[in-house]
Amino acid sequence: MKRKTAILISGRGSNMAALINAAKAPNYPAEIRCVISNRPAAPGLAIAREAGITTFGLDHNDYQSRESFDQAMQEVLVAEAIEYIACAGFMRLMTDDFVNAWAGRLINIHPSLLPLFKGVDTHERALEAGMRLHGCSVHFTTPELDAGPIIAQAAVPVLPSDDVKALAARVLTAEHRLYPMALGLVASGKAVLSANRVLLDAPVNEAQRLWSPDLGDDGTA
Ligand code: GRF
Repeated sequence: MKRKTAILISGRGSNMAALINAAKAPNYPAEIRCVISNRPAAPGLAIAREAGITTFGLDHNDYQSRESFDQAMQEVLVAEAIEYIACAGFMRLMTDDFVNAWAGRLINIHPSLLPLFKGVDTHERALEAGMRLHGCSVHFTTPELDAGPIIAQAAVPVLPSDDVKALAARVLTAEHRLYPMALGLVASGKAVLSANRVLLDAPVNEAQRLWSPDLGDDGTA
């Protein structure tokens, strides 16, 4: 049985679209029941509607407090019988109470190899730091921003020619593959939050490697 999942967005919604597409597969363990945006004009809402998904635009400016906004979201989530929540470019802090109520069932994607580069402007900061590798992470959401236990990560090389735009595009392509995989792990029970760690039942092997510069067969670059 597919797990009823809500996606929270604030803008473009390309990760949301990747999740919606993945969930169309008959054997995918989650179904996308609804999309909620704190910005009613978010372009992602139109994409979701075109895909036949129920959408809710809850303008955070209409609420007196963070608590009352989260309460409004909670009412929608309960009414839709939601079991899991995937934040996809949801640019709004949630209250500790909300996050704790959804512990283990609330996930987020962040465009860096956490715990590096929490917060915004991750690609600028990775370039400034001279990183040879960069990437994206899907993690369980906990009250501390971008600090929850990591479910899955994808690394991409930073090319010498990269500017922010080129690097962001390479990471985004990885995000669109990583997020459906990670939501699938969570919805199927193969990635479980336990004592602030992720118990993972999925293949991880030593042969997986991403070197930058690349390691040639003779051990030189
Ligand atoms: C993505 O890079 C995501 O990792 C970050 O915000 C961006 C949202 O892009 N949290 P989109 O709305 O999914 O296109």
